[in-house]
Amino acid sequence: MYRNILCLALGLIIGIRLTDFFEYFQLTESQFGSTALTELDDEATPQLPTEEELARWLYNETRVLCMVLTMPKNHQTRVRKVKHTWGKRCNKLIFISSQEDHELGAIDVGVPEDRNNLYLKMRKALEFVYKNYAEDYDWFLKADDDTFVIMENLRFMLYPYDPEAALYFGHRFRTTFPQGYMSGGAGYVISRDALRRLNLFAFNNTRFCPINNMSEDRQIGFCLQNVGVVAGDSRDEEGRDRFLPMSLKIMLPNFPTDNWIHMLTFYEPVNETGSSSGISFHYVKNHEFEMYEFLLYRLRVFGTPWSQRSLPPRLEVKQMQNQLNYWSQENSTNPYPWLRQD
Ligand SMILES: *[C@@H]1O[C@H](CO)[C@@H](O)[C@H](O)[C@H]1NC(C)=O
Ligand SMILES: *[C@@H]1O[C@H](CO)[C@@H](O)[C@H](O)[C@H]1NC(C)=O
Ligand SMILES: *[C@@H]1O[C@H](CO)[C@@H](O)[C@H](O)[C@H]1NC(C)=O
Ligand SMILES: *[C@@H]1O[C@H](CO)[C@@H](O)[C@H](O)[C@H]1NC(C)=O
Ligand SMILES: *[C@@H]1O[C@H](CO)[C@@H](O)[C@H](O)[C@H]1NC(C)=O
Repeated sequence: MYRNILCLALGLIIGIRLTDFFEYFQLTESQFGSTALTELDDEATPQLPTEEELARWLYNETRVLCMVLTMPKNHQTRVRKVKHTWGKRCNKLIFISSQEDHELGAIDVGVPEDRNNLYLKMRKALEFVYKNYAEDYDWFLKADDDTFVIMENLRFMLYPYDPEAALYFGHRFRTTFPQGYMSGGAGYVISRDALRRLNLFAFNNTRFCPINNMSEDRQIGFCLQNVGVVAGDSRDEEGRDRFLPMSLKIMLPNFPTDNWIHMLTFYEPVNETGSSSGISFHYVKNHEFEMYEFLLYRLRVFGTPWSQRSLPPRLEVKQMQNQLNYWSQENSTNPYPWLRQD
């Protein structure tokens, strides 16, 4: 059975890669084509796709299903805010709740509301999403109802990586097991293969993935590690975090040193925070959803000279293996003393 899944997966990868290549080629070709038609002077250089065109193409290329963990009490407040701001940029948006609401897209996972039950809720959500949507999306994002995510930057970060690899990203924390886990509040994103592994080999195994009422993010991180899903590094080229486990107010301008986050974080924090390719912010207050939306998508600063970026290359199978190998052996570089606690 496992072999069949592998074959299927391989077939899918090859299939997907071929179609990607074809679509990409079409996109660039049509770009070249249209400039060729309007080109009057010989010195005009061929135009590459603009960021806007690439982002539009990425929307269907790196498909992300978003799961937002919430509860009925927040349906009319935060849930609405998420739905009308960043959530509308997900390829599919599902609110994980204990009360169904068709209009909002909230599902009842059948677990009573309790702070101690967040992990159980998340497990049910991951089972639901696996049963219904595993083949329709590439990556599966978990966020809280007070997280704001820049979906375009998430896709940009994910693009080089094959969703058929056992991999996940987020803000990495250290803990008593070596790989650590990704902060739940900053949001974490698991590959299609990671979702499959959780459902086929972790949720049915109480040793790999025990049922308890401990914290959601740490427990999911434990299950992921035990089924060979590698914790990736999502920081930018300068080592700045792109998934922020705290509010911007706390994370700027420098990584906080007077905060529990300093002890927990896996990588040595860089002094100047604030990545220009940032992905997520946590502890977003109700009124701040519109604020982020405005600052990110509507406000324009006259004369800001942004250079045009292109997509990073997609990693080949061998490069992908090397990358996973490297990440799976990484040790925490945070010099702050580790106060063992559970
Ligand atoms: C993405 O795919 C959907 C469904 O196939 C299609 O309706 C939509 O036009 C596509 N969007 C873009 C930007 O290509
Ligand atoms: C979980 O399911 C997988 C796939 O069906 C199977 O190979 C494995 O033995 C099961 N694990 C346990 C502990 O039952
Ligand atoms: C943890 O969950 C068990 C059931 O699995 C329950 O009996 C227990 O009361 C819960 N503990 C806490 C602290 O909620
Ligand atoms: C970080 O930046 C602050 C403010 O500019 C400065 O006071 C501090 O010395 C810097 N720390 C390091 C480790 O560079
Ligand atoms: C992490 O630590 C282990 C054990 O000390 C070591 O074998 C390994 O090489 C280290 N990993 C990296 C990437 O340095």
